[in-house]
Order: sequence, then structure tokens, then C-alpha cells
Amino acid sequence: MREIEKINHTGEVPVMEPQRQFYFMDLAKQYVTQISRKKGRPLTFHVTTFGCQMNARDSEKLCGILETVGFEETDSEEADFVIYNTCTVRENANNKVYGRLGYLSGFKKKNKDMMIALCGCMMQEPEVVEKLKQSYRFVDLVFGTHNIFKFAELLVRCFEEQKMVIDIWDDTKEIVEELPVERKYSFKSGVNIMFGCNNFCSYCIVPYVRGRERSRKPQDIIREIEKLVADGVVEVMLLGQNVNSYGKNLDTPVTFAQLLQEVEKIEGLERIRFMTSHPKDLSDELIEVMKNSKKICRHLHLPLQSGSSRVLKEMNRHYDKEHYLALVEKIKKAMPDLAITTDIIVGFPGETEEDFKLLCDFTKEYKPARVGIFAYSKEEGTPSCKLKGQIPKSVKLKRVNALGKIYLDCVRQRNAALVGKTVEVLYEDMDYDRGRFVGRTQYDAPDIDANVYFTGDFADVGNFYNVKITGFDGYDLIGEKAK
Ligand code: SAH
Ligand code: SF4
Ligand code: F3S
Repeated sequence: MREIEKINHTGEVPVMEPQRQFYFMDLAKQYVTQISRKKGRPLTFHVTTFGCQMNARDSEKLCGILETVGFEETDSEEADFVIYNTCTVRENANNKVYGRLGYLSGFKKKNKDMMIALCGCMMQEPEVVEKLKQSYRFVDLVFGTHNIFKFAELLVRCFEEQKMVIDIWDDTKEIVEELPVERKYSFKSGVNIMFGCNNFCSYCIVPYVRGRERSRKPQDIIREIEKLVADGVVEVMLLGQNVNSYGKNLDTPVTFAQLLQEVEKIEGLERIRFMTSHPKDLSDELIEVMKNSKKICRHLHLPLQSGSSRVLKEMNRHYDKEHYLALVEKIKKAMPDLAITTDIIVGFPGETEEDFKLLCDFTKEYKPARVGIFAYSKEEGTPSCKLKGQIPKSVKLKRVNALGKIYLDCVRQRNAALVGKTVEVLYEDMDYDRGRFVGRTQYDAPDIDANVYFTGDFADVGNFYNVKITGFDGYDLIGEKAK
């Protein structure tokens, strides 16, 4: 049990956000100072991100609050406050979290003041919370995706109540602006433009754990990006589950293409990326804006999901293979150098060998620049869970491997064609495992391999350089700074 002297709350607790959270940040800071004095050292925190880019952006918001209240970040999970920001899109995501919780409890035995928190998409599943209540009593705080803006308030409850605090909401319409954020990279940043998803693809858990689609107001997005740019950011990634439906539900509707044009005007911003585009909503207006833009990267993540129109229908994707192919054709005609990346689910219920062959043929023919290949995962509560014709795991894995080989072959051809060429790269980071710097061209996807490795200098991080491609290693390009 933590020994804490309860601090008297003086004055009214503000009702309005974000003022209310700033009030709780102040209180949390007093608790952190109190414990830190007793220990004679600063308190540390560690945030572990399990999910997608949106999950990663949420982690930056958690870090912002933890730093504001006086915690110091550490690389290790042997910290005073550890939070797991979880994902539940595929089944192995959940098992990873349970496995690692056991290991965290070991640290807590050594440090009785340690606090363990869990948040993110997995917490929106009632059976998960039930399991935590039953078998993981050492967890101090559990909250979901809809009330992450209340983190400071929940933190104070944790200090004061000294028992497992659980706060899960079913949904929210609220978008709270202006809370602190601590970026992982100084020169690039994700920017949420919308939250939630209304598409209900039949395999997908996201609409259930992230709630209904809500767009941020364009002026709030622009203001955030302007501030980021003033703080050294040169590349932004606009984030939404389906950015092509951005703005439809605003009081004054705005299209995604219109938003992009506004973002383009921000001086000092060099690169604009966005993710994810749903093929059913990609407009001609967007193609035109991308084509005429000097800042939007020539990269489009356009998940296909299946090469069979029958399966796509079962997936509730609202397009067929022909529509997708025609769309790709149209986009390539407008921007021949555009790199298209995609996601594919292999082994969806009822997927026949013939359906799978269509997918292999598609991949060979269209040579997407990058493919995320996922074995279908049966997510409890989604419609496809109940479909007949679930595919055995061994068949799924066989198909994943077969498709993986075709894909690697495409990437090799693409990479071989780049050897000897000079490309503009944004220097991003040091890859300590490889002992080389890593960067990205405008064509590279932001979160999967697709990197350019080269020799460099720490001082170059966050700057653009020309890199001559000298070779490649599987998916990755190898190069050196051009003279
Ligand atoms: N909003 C994005 C996808 C977000 S989830 C879109 O519509 O494209 C990221 C990827 O995870 C999806 O593109 C899909 O390929 C994969 N995925 C989602 N649910 C899955 C499931 N149940 N099994 C396997 N892969 C899944
Ligand atoms: Fe999931 Fe489909 Fe929404 Fe993407 S668009 S998050 S795949 S339901
Ligand atoms: Fe995972 Fe939630 Fe993202 S389920 S993929 S972290 S939206």
C-alpha cells in the first residue's frame, strides 16, 4: 500500500474541459512531488504502445500529461508508473499484454509505490476487464479509448483511492482540445483528424472499441499543425480510420481534399501524409489535390483486404475488385510515380483456393509497394465471427507464407530498379540493431519497414538529404549520403 497524505482540494472543481484536467494535473503534481520527496529521487514513467498510429498518438498524449505532473520518462518498464496502451485488432495482440503483465507484477513486488495502468482498445472489451478484475488485482488503473482525455483526473483517483480504478465508457461525442502532448520525434508528428469508424467491415473490431466517427474541426487541426511546425515539425501524418470520409458530420461539412489544401498552405511544413484511405470513399477531388500538391507525399495506403469480389462483399467493404483496380488505374494515370501500399487479410471465412489465387495474381500484376499481410483473426462480437467456413490455422499460415513470397519478389524488383538512383530522404533515427541511420523517401510507408538505411550523423536527424542507393537488403534499401 502506498503511504500518501491526502491533499485537501480547495476551490471548485472546474466542470468545463480542458480546464478540469488542468486542475487535476495540478493536484497530481502535488502527489508526485510528495512521493518523490519521500523517495529522495524523481518518479519515473514508461508508456508501452501495442497498436497502430492512432494508438501511438494517444501514447504521446499520456506522456504529455505524465511529464506535466512531474514524472520523468525512462526506457525501462521497471518504473514508478507503467502504462500499457493496448490494441485488440488481432487475437495475438491480447495474449501479448497478459504475458507481459505477469512480468510487470515482479517489479511491483520490489517497488510498493509502483503504479500499473492499462488503457486502449483492448480495455473496451468487457471480458478483458472482467479477467483483469479476477486475475490481475495488482493493476491500479484501467480506462478505455473514449475517456483518455480524463487521464489526469483518473491518475488523481488512483493516488487517493488506493484500489483498482476502472473507468470505461461506451462511446463519447466529446473531443477535448489543447491538452499537453509529448512527441516521440521532434521533426514529425501524427495529427488526429477524426476518431472512430462507421464502416463496420465484418471482420473488424475497431468500430466497437473506438466508437462512432467524429471529425475534428478544420481550424483546430490547422492550429495544432501550425504549433507543431513552429516547434520544428516538418512532416505530419493526418490520422483517421477512413480519412476519405473526414468532415461529413461537421456542422459545416468540409471534404478531406479541402482540409488537405488548407494544411498545404502552412508555411514551413514540408511533407504531408495521411492514413488510412478507404477505397469506397476516395474522390476525384482528392486525386486532383494530391496531383497538384507540392507537399503531399506520393504515397497512398489503400487497403484492398481481398482479391475476390465475393469475399469483399462478405467483408462488407462496399467495393469489388473491379472498382479497386479501376481506382488504382485512375490514380496511377494522374500520378505515375505514386507508391500504393495495401493491407490484405488471408483466410477470411469461406476463402477458397480460387479466391486465394485471385489474390496472388493481383499481387503479381499490380506489385503494390508494400503489403501488410494478416491471417484472418476471429474477433468475438464481429459478424464474420459467426460465418461458416472458418479456415484452419495451418491453411491460413500456408497462404500467408505463399503470399509473402510473392510480395517479397515484387519488392526486390522494385528495390533493384532503384539501385544507382539518388532519392531525397528525411533522416529519422539511428537503428541501433543495424548500426545505421534510417530514413524515408516520400514514397515509403510510415510504419512498416520500407526504410532507407545509410551512414550518417546524429546532427542530420530531422533534415532532408539526397541519398544514393547502393543496394538493398530484402525490403530495405541501403544507401549513402550523396556528395
Ligand atoms: N481503417 C483501416 C484499417 C485499420 S485495422 C482500413 O479500413 O483499412 C488495420 C488492418 O488490420 C486492416 O487493414 C486489416 O487488414 C487488418 N485487420 C483488421 N481486422 C482484422 C482481423 N479480424 N483479422 C485479420 N486482420 C485484420
Ligand atoms: Fe475496421 Fe473497416 Fe473501420 Fe478500417 S474501415 S477500421 S477495417 S471497420
Ligand atoms: Fe489496434 Fe485500436 Fe489501432 S484495435 S489497430 S490500437 S484502433
